[in-house]
Amino acid sequence: MSTTLLEMSEGRRPEGLAPELARRRRGSGPPSRGARAGRPAGGAGAGVGDSHKPVLARELLELLRPQAGQIAIDCTFGDGGHARLVAERLGPGGTLVAIDRDPLAEQRFAALARESTCAMRFIRAGYAEALELLAAEGMRADIAYFDLGMSSMQVDTRERGFSYSYDAPLDMRMDTTQALSAREVVAEWDERRLAHALREYGEERHAGAIARAIVARRRQAPIETTLELVDTITSAIPAPARFAGGHPAKRSFQALRIAVNDELGQLEEALPLAWGLLLEGGVLAAITFHSLEDRRVKRFLADRARGCICPPDLPVCACGRTPEAALLSRRSIVPSAEELAENPRAASARLRAATKLPLEGDRPEGSR
Ligand SMILES: C[S@@+](CC[C@H](N)C(=O)[O-])C[C@H]1O[C@@H](n2cnc3c(N)ncnc32)[C@H](O)[C@@H]1O
Repeated sequence: MSTTLLEMSEGRRPEGLAPELARRRRGSGPPSRGARAGRPAGGAGAGVGDSHKPVLARELLELLRPQAGQIAIDCTFGDGGHARLVAERLGPGGTLVAIDRDPLAEQRFAALARESTCAMRFIRAGYAEALELLAAEGMRADIAYFDLGMSSMQVDTRERGFSYSYDAPLDMRMDTTQALSAREVVAEWDERRLAHALREYGEERHAGAIARAIVARRRQAPIETTLELVDTITSAIPAPARFAGGHPAKRSFQALRIAVNDELGQLEEALPLAWGLLLEGGVLAAITFHSLEDRRVKRFLADRARGCICPPDLPVCACGRTPEAALLSRRSIVPSAEELAENPRAASARLRAATKLPLEGDRPEGSR
């Protein structure tokens, strides 16, 4: 696990903090690697959350209801937009643990930690690994949330190659220290594997043709930049389809990004870990940006909210299963028209959340 820990010592004792975390905050934990608390990516003086509007922020806060003194885990810190709003509500007695695998997010975290009153900790790692670490430390939280996909900072930093709109080296790594980048995927994966990734992660109808075109083009010369890739993808899509359903490279770029960052694998691993860390009455929430993520979150929460799974013709329950979650909304929550007018990037966002119910024996009489 490529894990970096950064503890921002704010001089307060966080209530309910795991002993390991409290010890490290006093400076006796394992040394952090390298100098990481640099200037915020937005330049000197740029505050966290100043440069972008966190998606579905009002709705997320309504579901999470962060309270003074609680412990929250932001699994996808990014630019810190949601984290700042949550931290404000946790107050001096609360603790925010922030996770992100992007070193730039770590810099943004340092800026937020300087201006926040709650105790704060940053873990630079994939969220699945970070949550495993927290579980091993015995940490329990009132709140855990995910805001999946790319941060504004990642998309807008052209040289990171996330966007099909700018010419940049092929990269797309959220963790800029990891070995696999989009360049290797495009240069080395065989046609079948490429087609599979484009189909599975981009739901791209022309996956086979695009994979074929990539392999044919790279035989002539390496595909090095985003616009060379866009050109290759566009050439493989039949003309009428190029002008339907958004940019012709949109699905392929999504697919490559998901493959490079193992986004779905991480999510599948992380949801049960985050759920396991929650205290009874705690809330797990996730904002997703495409159906592959949303389906996984929906299924995960619905499974936990399901009680008896006996066949309907069985007169009495034999499985003994009771729900461990209550869904906080029946359908996913989507951005308001006002939010979309202000922030078109929120267009595909969906929010789902559930609260963790007390164990059967601990529930008050008559509750379900
Ligand atoms: C949409 S942004 C979060 C934005 C944030 N909520 C805000 O308001 O600024 C998603 C962030 O999650 C991070 N991320 C995505 N997948 C991750 C993973 N598996 N592990 C850790 N961080 C991840 C990305 O690096 C990115 O910074």
